[in-house]
Amino acid sequence: MKKIRLALLSGGVSSEREVSLNSGTQVFEALDKDKYTITRYDPKTDLPKLVMDAPILDAALIILHGPFGEDGTVQGLLDLLDIPYQGAGVLGSAAAMNKLVAKRLYEGAKVPTPPYLSFYIKDDINISEVVGSLGLPLVVKPACAGSSVGMTIVKHQKNLAAAIKLGFEHDDTLILEAYVKGVELTCGVLGNDTLEALPVIEIIPGDAHEFFDYKAKYVAGETQEICPARIDEPTRLKVQELAILAHKALFLKGYSRTDMILKEDTLSVLETNTIPGMTATSLFPQSAQVGGYSFSALLDKLIQLAIEENKRTNLRRAR
Ligand SMILES: Nc1ncnc2c1ncn2[C@@H]1O[C@H](COP(=O)(O)OP(=O)(O)O)[C@@H](O)[C@H]1O
Ligand SMILES: [Mg+2]
Repeated sequence: MKKIRLALLSGGVSSEREVSLNSGTQVFEALDKDKYTITRYDPKTDLPKLVMDAPILDAALIILHGPFGEDGTVQGLLDLLDIPYQGAGVLGSAAAMNKLVAKRLYEGAKVPTPPYLSFYIKDDINISEVVGSLGLPLVVKPACAGSSVGMTIVKHQKNLAAAIKLGFEHDDTLILEAYVKGVELTCGVLGNDTLEALPVIEIIPGDAHEFFDYKAKYVAGETQEICPARIDEPTRLKVQELAILAHKALFLKGYSRTDMILKEDTLSVLETNTIPGMTATSLFPQSAQVGGYSFSALLDKLIQLAIEENKRTNLRRAR
């Protein structure tokens, strides 16, 4: 069989650059070299080369996180170049990257999400009104960031102004969200037309972490991840249904991973990741493994889904 000429994109210019480079290397190592001829591109330096090489590329794997990678920009470039790529397109990537847009789409699709307020950098924010409305603790999040960057859990009203200031260093729009104390769960979804929900993972950040922060996410051993999660059958089904509902609500494709919190028997969706972490031990590959896909089989599947989807949508391209 002819080898697939694959572009592997990692690095980029977001705050998650290092995570992306690390994932890129692990993905490179896991890809079956009998099936793929792989060229690596770092969008920070190699976009001109990617454009030049486009005619000889069959597909791309975008292993980039955060703005300028996961937000639809790179997806748009690849669409223009007619290179199939895994996962969400321009619309879904942009919608999911912005937590405010995502929340509005969730609300429209009846995906439960914690109560929140949103602010633009030019707004006057009345601290005591915010606390009166959301209660304490509350969570301050930049609308467009990931890996818990720029995020604070505020327990005392006196710390809110500083948390807001920090958040605005990362984005012009902030979400202030009610804090939900419960069990953290995450659920992957895989497929184009038929969506398969993967086994649910339970996330237990170590005692040193107040929440699933940057270090808890990326330093080995800081967080316990249990798959399948220790939840009863009806809850598992509800989590998987919600992950699919969230995937559809945000117009996603190929795969995604939705983060949730279970409090007593109520689920709240926090966000949906369109390019979930992709080291062999990251959450999505872990649950795919439990669901029967080795890391390299998962990568094959994502590339196959990308090529199929591109063939279908490309019928609409005037030649
Ligand atoms: N409303 C909330 N209540 C409780 N914990 C939260 C809430 N929002 C976020 N967190 C904590 O912060 C982590 C990161 O938040 P999330 O919305 O998933 O953003 P991202 O992963 O993109 O940084 C979550 O995994 C969770 O530990
Ligand atoms: Mg998250």
